[in-house]
Amino acid sequence: MSGISVRLMRPEDVAAAVALQRAAFPPPFSEDLLWQASHLHRHLELFPEGQWIAWVGDQVAGSCSNTLISEERWNAHASWVETVGGPYLEGFDPDGTTLYGLDITVHPDFRRIGVGRAFYRERYGLVQRLGLTRYGTACRLPDFRAYEAANPGATPESYASAVASGEANDRTLTPLLRYGLAYRGIIEDYMEDYESADSAAMLEWRP
Ligand SMILES: CC(C)(COP(=O)(O)OP(=O)(O)OC[C@H]1O[C@@H](n2cnc3c(N)ncnc32)[C@H](O)[C@@H]1OP(=O)(O)O)[C@@H](O)C(=O)NCCC(=O)NCCS
Repeated sequence: MSGISVRLMRPEDVAAAVALQRAAFPPPFSEDLLWQASHLHRHLELFPEGQWIAWVGDQVAGSCSNTLISEERWNAHASWVETVGGPYLEGFDPDGTTLYGLDITVHPDFRRIGVGRAFYRERYGLVQRLGLTRYGTACRLPDFRAYEAANPGATPESYASAVASGEANDRTLTPLLRYGLAYRGIIEDYMEDYESADSAAMLEWRP
């Protein structure tokens, strides 16, 4: 859709990005896991070229946070905290080989018009400009519980495989797969996330 603009985040955008988190991640997602202003300011200090904000007209429509991590951290398939070093990104590695997606948030009023796709264009472009090995992330599975209720015995793994093959739809994993990411398996105990049974789908894109 025309009218979407994406640019690098600036310190003066942080308050709007924090408000956006609350609108986009309602309970049962834990409020403790939402970005606070001090987290986003730290991301801007460490890796300003990996933080973006999207606008539609004069309204903030989305935000997107990223870090750089080493090959070892990517290959460990560990929890969110171990992978990135917590919300202040203590695992940031300026020589890292993976652009790691920390967050993509689109305001509910601006979903399904291409804001997420616009952020992914920026992510893939940055991987190419920096000569990195990959873009990687781990994706929530917010519709797992509904699938489990309809398919007793389902696991995050069987669910993510069903979404990856197109047999099931997930409001988060399905769009991310449409951006060309490859599904690489489930990470258990990734973060506290009731809807996703604390699991996440590991996703990778290589240039
Ligand atoms: C996931 C999210 C970022 C997608 O952003 P978006 O801007 O709404 O998605 P887009 O408009 O770029 O859509 C991309 C594609 O996914 C499809 N899609 C989007 N939402 C979908 C849904 N709920 N179910 C199925 N397909 C969907 C679109 O139709 C589009 O398909 P196309 O490529 O065939 O045209 C957004 O829904 C969001 O912010 N969710 C809440 C926060 C979140 O969960 N973030 C990710 C944490 S891991």
